[in-house]
Amino acid sequence: MSYNMMEDVERILISEAELAQRVKELGAQITADYTGKEILMIGILRGAVLFMSDLMRAISLPVSLDFMAVSSYGVSTTSSGVVRIMKDLDENAENKHVLIVEDIIDSGLTLNYLVDNLKSRRPASVKICTLLSKPDRRKAEVQIAYNGFTIPDYFVVGYGLDFAEKYRNFPFIGVLKPSVYQSAKQSAKI
Ligand code: XMP
Ligand code: MG
Repeated sequence: MSYNMMEDVERILISEAELAQRVKELGAQITADYTGKEILMIGILRGAVLFMSDLMRAISLPVSLDFMAVSSYGVSTTSSGVVRIMKDLDENAENKHVLIVEDIIDSGLTLNYLVDNLKSRRPASVKICTLLSKPDRRKAEVQIAYNGFTIPDYFVVGYGLDFAEKYRNFPFIGVLKPSVYQSAKQSAKI
C-alpha cells in the first residue's frame, strides 16, 4: 500500500484471517440449511459487496445474485425508519429462496422495512445474513438467521463498510478514530 491505511484507524476489530474463517463457517452453515434448494442472494449496495462475493464462494449450492440499493433519511443520527428504494431487483423474487446479504445491522430499521417489502413479493422464503450486528443500537426487531459477528457500538469501516465512501477496500474491520468523523461532521454538517 502506498498510503498509510492505518492513519485513520484506531485499531483492528476483526482481522482478515478472522473474517475469512467466519465467512467459511457461514457458507458451510448456509449450504447445510439450504441443501437441495437454489438461493437468490440479494446484496444491499454498497457495503455488502465484499462480504457477498466471499460468501457466495463458500456456498456449495446453486446461487444467483441480485442487488438492491436503499437510502434511509436522517441515518447519521436519528433514523426515521423511512426507507427509499434507490435501486430495485432486476429479477423476480417470487417463489425464490431469498437470502438478504447485509454488511451491518444497526438500528434494524432498514432491514425491518426490506424484509416486509420482499415478503410482499411472495418468495418461497426470506432470511437475513449479516456480517456484523450492533444489538445495542436496535430500534426495530429483525430476525437474523446468520450473523458473522456481534460488535459493540463502534463506528467501523473496512471490508465493504465506509465512512464518506472511504475505507471500503480495507481487508479488515477497523474502528475509525472518532476525530475522523467528528472533523468531517463539523466541515460537512453530516
Ligand atoms: P440500520 O437501518 O440497521 O442501518 O440502522 C444499517 C446501515 O447503517 C450503516 N451503518 C454503518 N456503516 N459503519 C459503517 O460503515 C458502521 O459502524 C455502521 N453502522 C451503521 C450501514 O450503511 C448499514 O447498512
Ligand atoms: Mg449498508
